[in-house]
Amino acid sequence: MKIAVVGTGYVGLVTGTCFAETGNQVTCVDIDANKVARMQRGEIPIFEPGLEVLFVRNIAEERLKFTTSLSEGIQDAEVIFLALPTPPGEDGSADLKYILGVAQELGPLLEDYVVVIDKSTVPVGTAEKVREKIAQNAKVDFDVVSNPEFLREGVAVEDFMKPDRVVVGTSSENAKKVMEKLYSPLLRQGNPIIFMDERSAEMTKYAANSFLAMKITFMNEIANLCERLGANVDDVRKGIGTDSRIGKRFLFAGIGYGGSCFPKDVQALAKTSQDYGYDFRTLHAVMAVNNDQKTKLIPAITEYFGGSLSGKTIAVWGLAFKPYTDDIREAPALENIRILTAAGANVAVYDPEAMDNVKQLLPDITYCHTAYAALDDADALMIFTEWPQFRTPDFDKMSKLLKAKVVFDGRNLYEISTMRELGFTYFSIGREA
Ligand code: UGA
Repeated sequence: MKIAVVGTGYVGLVTGTCFAETGNQVTCVDIDANKVARMQRGEIPIFEPGLEVLFVRNIAEERLKFTTSLSEGIQDAEVIFLALPTPPGEDGSADLKYILGVAQELGPLLEDYVVVIDKSTVPVGTAEKVREKIAQNAKVDFDVVSNPEFLREGVAVEDFMKPDRVVVGTSSENAKKVMEKLYSPLLRQGNPIIFMDERSAEMTKYAANSFLAMKITFMNEIANLCERLGANVDDVRKGIGTDSRIGKRFLFAGIGYGGSCFPKDVQALAKTSQDYGYDFRTLHAVMAVNNDQKTKLIPAITEYFGGSLSGKTIAVWGLAFKPYTDDIREAPALENIRILTAAGANVAVYDPEAMDNVKQLLPDITYCHTAYAALDDADALMIFTEWPQFRTPDFDKMSKLLKAKVVFDGRNLYEISTMRELGFTYFSIGREA
């Protein structure tokens, strides 16, 4: 099929590249001329494991192209994906100016029947608005469908190629056929394509992310209680996760969820609820608890150092909001580092991918080339991201480098018993100190 993808952010680029890989002709459109030029030269603008090899191959085999021109990009396209940003406005609601702007431009450019697909996470009712905008100037028939994405950063290619399900919101039989054809190579294992109306598809995305954020938050509160009761949240997680009604995934307690999706989507759904006269109390609790959870280790470390962090050197492992990404949006690490430095501590940090993204935001901390370099003469280590290399460190080396064997672990990477045997003072989440 001939596909256009408008917007080459994270979602657009993964969508475009993966559909090229399944044999389609894909043209990606972006207004950023620099970025387009770089992509035309085969330079990938984001870090996502497994994507680059597909990106380079599909450019070489001429299935993946880039342009700044919308009219050129959508030429002969059977489907047009809109993968544009929907940043939160000041009141928390998603700002639709990019999506509706492109929809407005699209109308007069359409020459034949086409399916326009909302891929961005958009408020319920957006498909109708996009349809209206296009219809203002369109001379041909078209459909607008909602097709939310459920990709996780870091494993986006796998999530795209082997989706648990594909959700499509449309009432048009034509559009259903087009979407079935488009996704058929990805649904070979029998995972379903679920058709529903546009509003329900839009709602599904918010419900999924909010539910997952709530699941994590619930576990974080169980962890907070475990600490007070002398129970171990990791055992409780195993104990409940084996119940198939609950499920094993997204039950890991820690220093809260971050990233570009959960915080934004939970906030947006709460705002939508409010706009429609409904007070979604669970979501307010999720936001408040998550906010507190992010900096939960600060009181513990301050107390450990007798009430003041002034002059202490704190090693930090991890900046990204989660492993396998360089994304630092809403990353708990940044807020923690700001508090540490404001309290007079010196911070030495290591992250395998995200340091370049932080240097401008936090110029006054020390960036180290290895995890061990960050430990040199530090009074304590704080861990904010569960990169695999932090899971099995050389504890002997750690002991020698650190001034004192003290670890504050926001991601529960180590067994309490191991740390105790090795003589570390070890604080983690929801487990005995
Ligand atoms: C999330 C969803 O998982 C995707 O399905 C969705 O498509 C995406 O948002 C989106 O809306 O675009 P993502 O933000 O990439 O994906 O990352 P997740 O792997 O879901 O992690 C989100 C946050 O939850 C991270 O900060 C992670 O550390 C935290 N988390 C996750 C926990 O604290 N505990 C867990 O058990 C799982």
